[in-house]
Amino acid sequence: MNIAVVGLGFVGLSMSSVLASKNYNVVGIDIDNQKCSDIRNGILPLFEPGLENTLRVGLKKKLTISNNFSLIKNCDMIFVTVGTPQKSNGAIELSMIKEAITSIGRIIAKSKNNPIILIKSTVTPGTMQNIILPILEKRSGKKAGRDFGLISNPEFLQESSAIKNTKFPHVIVLGGYQTRFMKKTKNFFSKLHPNIPIIITNHQTAEMVKYANNSFLATKISFINQLSNICQNIPGVNIDDIAKTIGLDPRIGDAFLNAGPGYGGSCLPKDMKALINFADKVGINPILLNAVEKTNQRQIKSIISLMEKSLGTLALKRLAVLGTAFKPNTDDVRDSIAIELIKKLLKKKARITIYDPKAMRNTMKVFGKKIIYAKSITDALNNSQCVIMMTHWKQFEVLNNNSIKHMKRKFIIDCRRILSKKELNAEYYAIGIGKKE
Ligand code: UGA
Repeated sequence: MNIAVVGLGFVGLSMSSVLASKNYNVVGIDIDNQKCSDIRNGILPLFEPGLENTLRVGLKKKLTISNNFSLIKNCDMIFVTVGTPQKSNGAIELSMIKEAITSIGRIIAKSKNNPIILIKSTVTPGTMQNIILPILEKRSGKKAGRDFGLISNPEFLQESSAIKNTKFPHVIVLGGYQTRFMKKTKNFFSKLHPNIPIIITNHQTAEMVKYANNSFLATKISFINQLSNICQNIPGVNIDDIAKTIGLDPRIGDAFLNAGPGYGGSCLPKDMKALINFADKVGINPILLNAVEKTNQRQIKSIISLMEKSLGTLALKRLAVLGTAFKPNTDDVRDSIAIELIKKLLKKKARITIYDPKAMRNTMKVFGKKIIYAKSITDALNNSQCVIMMTHWKQFEVLNNNSIKHMKRKFIIDCRRILSKKELNAEYYAIGIGKKE
């Protein structure tokens, strides 16, 4: 089985490495030549636990990385994993996917085999039928369903567990027509992931499933965040005990009930906006989804007002931000709430020092010299008048009275309740708990 993966971001790189490590012949394609050459040398464009090892194994076996699209011509399956970023109106930007499938169409025009093209990129319902399929048929001069297979195959992996999720997905979704290509794809996945449910449906449903999934996760987070804001105003109430308890109800489940500064990252915020935009287009006023988004945006404001309540004006105040990655175990700062917070604090003329175990380089790309980059947690805290803990890195759990002793004012805002069980000689506020006396 020869497999191509087009687009080497989190999904594509994890997928090509895992498949190659399982002895499939894999060609990983990306238009960025520098990125390809780095990957060939084992240098990763991103930090993802377990990826470096898996890539190394894959490269030793049958993984080829290239920017040369013609390498896909002998492939039986072609996975498209390019990004669909956000436009200013919230809709998705399709230029990358159009470019990728145009190149694929041109190559399959000349090839003799009948490949199956699987679209993993997140696209709104109808994109496959109305955009992808016509481009592919036009560029290849061939017919979908007869000469090549076309399947919607949304991806549910999470950054920071990309390898684990690629090896052990919770579900496989295959959208498309009941053709021999669908049968072959189903066989491929049932061999690759025995005992994992495979849902076979049409294109539009498969496309919508992805948005349903991410918007439900976002809804759970905004729900617990709204509840946490209520709890903050009830002395002694602890949001974590509430989340843990309701999570034991099998109808609710305990995942994605960690209150915090709001959801960030390259997926949840973008997919929520795309779904809201899409709902409007099909004539539905998405009241709940809008509320989920608004609740998310309000979280930052409530953190800032907590700060201003204690510090007064933030202008010229030295504030330390611990954690800029959008979640732990990644160096990704795209749409990170911490980045948004820093932007707002800079507007208020605060002086910001940050520390993150992995995301310093990416944060530097956003802020350059506008903020200070500390070498350690204590370095970040020195002389600061407030520390805001934004990302739940394990490393931050060591913070104690000794680490805060050189703060100008011992004032902690803990957005993830990392230190909530510790006795600290400090003014301590936690999202979902409020002020701890
Ligand atoms: C998300 C989905 O979880 C994946 O299933 C999906 O495949 C992916 O988007 C995608 O569309 O590609 P990811 O962006 O890696 O994955 O991040 P999440 O783990 O979902 O976290 C998103 C944000 O929610 C983070 O800022 C995180 O801190 C926040 N979050 C998560 C909370 O504030 N509380 C929680 O309980 C969980």
